[in-house]
Amino acid sequence: MKVINTVIELQNQLRKMHLSPIGFVPTMGALHEGHLSLAESAVQQCPVVVVSIFVNPTQFNDKNDLKNYPRTPDSDFELLSKVLRETDLVFTPGVKEIYPEEDKREFHFGNLDNVMEALHRPGHFNGVAQVVSRLFEIVNPDIAIFGLKDFQQLAVIRALVKQTGNKVRIIGNPIVRENDGLAMSSRNRLLDPKIRLHSPIIYKTISAASVMIKEYDIREIKSFVEKNINSVPGFNVEYFEIADDTELIPVSTKDEMKKDKKYFGCIAVKAGNIRLIDNIEIGLV
Ligand code: PAF
Repeated sequence: MKVINTVIELQNQLRKMHLSPIGFVPTMGALHEGHLSLAESAVQQCPVVVVSIFVNPTQFNDKNDLKNYPRTPDSDFELLSKVLRETDLVFTPGVKEIYPEEDKREFHFGNLDNVMEALHRPGHFNGVAQVVSRLFEIVNPDIAIFGLKDFQQLAVIRALVKQTGNKVRIIGNPIVRENDGLAMSSRNRLLDPKIRLHSPIIYKTISAASVMIKEYDIREIKSFVEKNINSVPGFNVEYFEIADDTELIPVSTKDEMKKDKKYFGCIAVKAGNIRLIDNIEIGLV
């Protein structure tokens, strides 16, 4: 793999190789097995893969979160070298490469702007749309792969691609979990050890919720999820919603769930000082 940090060099390399389809895995670094599974799946589908590592300042609505976001370049390169081939490129641009000028674009995603993450992280998805559209412009990929853990982000990116008419195919890959069930996340390494020990409660609880749907109504399930997780010291549920996977419209009764749609239980939890998200499919049958 080759590490590149300028737009011009990246584009020259891609032009020289003239390989297609181009696979793309955008990341913010602090890589873990979840990211590697995305890169692996890109490698299986494409003769050339670009993995970007860029901590995008415009998607952080909290300055401290941006400052504390883990940055582990050496370990990132080591991990990627296990998966990527000679032809593949790791793109590590600085802020000026991505944003030569301040990005003032405003994106609108309908209902996706009014639920769950959008309510708790104002401006976050606008920043994601800014950086992803810019990266797509630079890399011009045929396929881009994202993790399903960031469920709403995936829906936003699909909407962005539709709005911009980009031909890139967006793929959502399954969540990769630690042995104890915690969804892998770059933020997990920031968890206080005592909090980390109890973090599997999140997946255990939403797994139970996915089964409860057969016998209980949604109000009861939501109340169970909140009580169960909030009973662990240091844990506080920000939201738990059951929503469809395209518009992410939360349902409040089972009658609202349509047979031809897929539904997911989506959760955000403050675990000590760290915010964790997860989701699970909730099927009526
Ligand atoms: O999911 C992430 O790591 C980021 O939000 C992304 C898609 C790389 C954009 O900065």
